[in-house]
Amino acid sequence: MRVLVTGSCGMLGRLVCSSLSAEHTVLATDIVGECEQLDISNTDRVFEVFGRFQPETVIHCAAMTDVDGCERDPDRAYLVNAIGTWNIACACAHFGCPVVYVSTDYVFDGTKDSPYTEFDKPNPINVYGASKLAGEEAVRDLCAKHFIVRTSWVIAPHGKNFALTILNLAKQRIVENETDKPLTIVADQIGSPTYAKDLAQFLSSLVGSPLYGIYHFTNSGYCSWYEFASKVIEFAGIDQVKVVPIKSEDWPTPTRRPKYSVLRHYRLELLGRDNVRDWKEAVRELVSEWTTAKQ
Ligand SMILES: NC(=O)c1ccc[n+]([C@@H]2O[C@H](COP(=O)([O-])OP(=O)(O)OC[C@H]3O[C@@H](n4cnc5c(N)ncnc54)[C@H](OP(=O)(O)O)[C@@H]3O)[C@@H](O)[C@H]2O)c1
Repeated sequence: MRVLVTGSCGMLGRLVCSSLSAEHTVLATDIVGECEQLDISNTDRVFEVFGRFQPETVIHCAAMTDVDGCERDPDRAYLVNAIGTWNIACACAHFGCPVVYVSTDYVFDGTKDSPYTEFDKPNPINVYGASKLAGEEAVRDLCAKHFIVRTSWVIAPHGKNFALTILNLAKQRIVENETDKPLTIVADQIGSPTYAKDLAQFLSSLVGSPLYGIYHFTNSGYCSWYEFASKVIEFAGIDQVKVVPIKSEDWPTPTRRPKYSVLRHYRLELLGRDNVRDWKEAVRELVSEWTTAKQ
């Protein structure tokens, strides 16, 4: 099938393209980078690229993902995440092709004390979450054939993500002889890490599927950022640098974040198809890939 991928130079988009390439003809697009240039906020350009490629499915990964940046510049966040997604949804409706939209745990407010299902009502508490929810609504309202896949805490051996930040900070402490300075990490926000490779495979598996709807997809299990960082350090075999838990109040940011945003894969469970590996297994693999790449 002809599959158009937006945000294909991003952390997830790159892996989506490689996962698709064996079986499909892929048009990789992004706002910049080595691919077809496509700014999703440019309506005419979106329709021009769709008209030329005639996609049979779109996997829409492009977004403004800098959560604090969204809070500082809400116009940009809504332009990319809401209007950009609306453009993609309009084009999918016009050209009659299904869309797979990647969304986020941040559509929830984090006040629940058990995992969020696909049937819980979103209630975002920050601009990023609200603009991504507006994207969900555009996709849902305009394209009957849609998949909305909510995920969280995405990591990969490339791109900007928490696991790499921790590895690089720990390495820096060692190189600069500052191992007496611990890494202080928030311990009162709970979520589920997601290896982009596992998510990319899941997104690719939706191409050609008629089972449209909302899905939650993360690695199995959950943890705090502190537990997450501790596992990254442990799997990397770094014992010189300590990880110390702190409260959210002690790590002020411009953005309110949900305290609890574990996503239950309820739809997959009910379909008897929830067999995603545990987050610790995924983190172990990522750290091992990162270590090999550094040698
Ligand atoms: N990372 C996470 O933890 C996480 C969690 C939940 C959901 N998600 C969702 O997963 C998807 C992929 O995220 P990611 O982590 O791979 O983020 P990413 O690395 O930031 O990738 C997003 C890509 O979209 C591009 N982009 C930004 N504005 C664009 C525009 N106007 N037109 C076209 N492309 C544009 C970005 O380019 P620039 O880098 O040049 O801006 C980047 O290459 C997003 O929809 C995100 O909301 C991510």
